[in-house]
Amino acid sequence: LFSGRVEFLLSAPQLKFLPDPSVPEIAFCGRSNVGKSSLLNALTGRKAIARASVTPGRTQELNYFEVGTPTAFRLVDMPGYGFAKAPPAVVEKWRRLIRDYLRGRVVLKRTLLLVDARHGVKPVDAEFMKMLDEAAVGYRVVLTKADKLKATELAEVIARTEADARRHVAAHPQVLVTSAEVKLGIDDLRAAVLEDAGA
Ligand code: GTP
Ligand code: MG
Repeated sequence: LFSGRVEFLLSAPQLKFLPDPSVPEIAFCGRSNVGKSSLLNALTGRKAIARASVTPGRTQELNYFEVGTPTAFRLVDMPGYGFAKAPPAVVEKWRRLIRDYLRGRVVLKRTLLLVDARHGVKPVDAEFMKMLDEAAVGYRVVLTKADKLKATELAEVIARTEADARRHVAAHPQVLVTSAEVKLGIDDLRAAVLEDAGA
């Protein structure tokens, strides 16, 4: 499916602009700058279908991408959280948008929670995991930027992150390890997304 049609659909700043809930959705969440847009590009094998940026807080809407002909499922690139320089009003608006989306979106099959492999699960991530637990949205924790770590450091952060995942009811116990930069773990991620989307 990923080698076929992958197309940008729309950008939704508010829930009322979401597309009809007609096909399964898989959402990409995580801290600002964790690599959501980059991983979405690597997953779909496209260079810049999602806009990646060195400026944190670049993605501020729910960005929708469609996969397959006819559309088999949709991928959603979410705005990042934990951006220190964001004004409180923006943070609050974001929180409400995400929370309402997570709670109310019946076609949301799974969320991928991206965590920077260099940092592991931070307090803001744990808070977000709690929000997913409460919304009863199943999620997989995906470590990003694995190319930045030595093998021993990576093994350590994987063990620590799996321990974190086991403390959260809605988290999948197995952590995925990826690098969009050197295309590590992309095939496993594709398989996981296809399975979650029921495609
Ligand atoms: P926001 O939309 O602002 O929340 O950011 P994002 O999570 O979409 O991150 P984005 O994909 O824009 O990437 C942020 C920065 O991290 C960019 O400078 C990327 O080049 C870099 N980056 C992303 N993935 C990787 C990776 O696998 N390895 C390395 N070394 N850098 C990466
Ligand atoms: Mg982004």
